[in-house]
Amino acid sequence: MKKIFGFIGSPLKKNSNTHTLTRMMLDKLQEMDESIDYEVLTAGQVNINHCKGCWSCMKRGKCPQDKLDDMPLLKKKMMDADFIIWGSPVYTMQVTGQMKTFLDRLCSWYHLLKLAGKSGMTVSTTANSGLAEVQDYLKMMLCATGVKIVTYLGTYGTFPKTLTDPEQALKEAHKTAEVVYPYINSEKKAETDDDLEECFHIMKNKVTYGAKWLPYEHQYWQENDMLDLNSFEELLRKIQS
Ligand SMILES: Cc1cc2nc3c(=O)[nH]c(=O)nc-3n(C[C@H](O)[C@H](O)[C@H](O)COP(=O)(O)O)c2cc1C
Repeated sequence: MKKIFGFIGSPLKKNSNTHTLTRMMLDKLQEMDESIDYEVLTAGQVNINHCKGCWSCMKRGKCPQDKLDDMPLLKKKMMDADFIIWGSPVYTMQVTGQMKTFLDRLCSWYHLLKLAGKSGMTVSTTANSGLAEVQDYLKMMLCATGVKIVTYLGTYGTFPKTLTDPEQALKEAHKTAEVVYPYINSEKKAETDDDLEECFHIMKNKVTYGAKWLPYEHQYWQENDMLDLNSFEELLRKIQS
């Protein structure tokens, strides 16, 4: 059975509406199959330092902040998972500052398509506005890591642990679990799409012409025999074979 890992950019812990909505879907999945292994952490449960802009992750494959916070733990959990969930509440029409910091710290992962072969989804909650903006942004960034996005889940909420319409949220969460389940029980696997192909071509171009400035990233593509590939589909076939 596959592993699910979710990171929610809310500064709250289990009182987070976004965490609650995510758990509604995951609890339904576990009802469908009790052997499903999942873990969800919020930004409130871990310590993530800001990116200091040193470019070391892209030049040398090492982030000096990794010695000082929980990013290595989060990275390991994502690498070990088969299905990835990224979620954030809407804060002033975008993801939270904590979520943006998490995404900044993964900068080199977008250039390496580090999570290619995995499937995933995005989750968001808001009082009123910004749901589409946050879903689109999270989707773009998760796709840039190579994850095949299979669905998204969103609802309305206000104060901590206060979803506006919990019954409707539960219904949506259960519907979403039905979409996700085939990817967890291996009935379906990650496939390519136009967005993933676009990411592949942009990043192949970037690492090819940027070899002199960002040697680690070029070396990663070379060592993983990715420079000879012509499409994301070829990369998926290589990973899945
Ligand atoms: C600082 C802050 C900014 C917010 N900005 C917006 C906003 O721009 N639009 C909106 O409709 N709701 C906004 N909200 C409401 C949250 O999106 C909503 O309460 C959400 O469910 C909180 O999720 P959480 O409990 O997972 O942190 C904001 C809340 C806070 C605390």
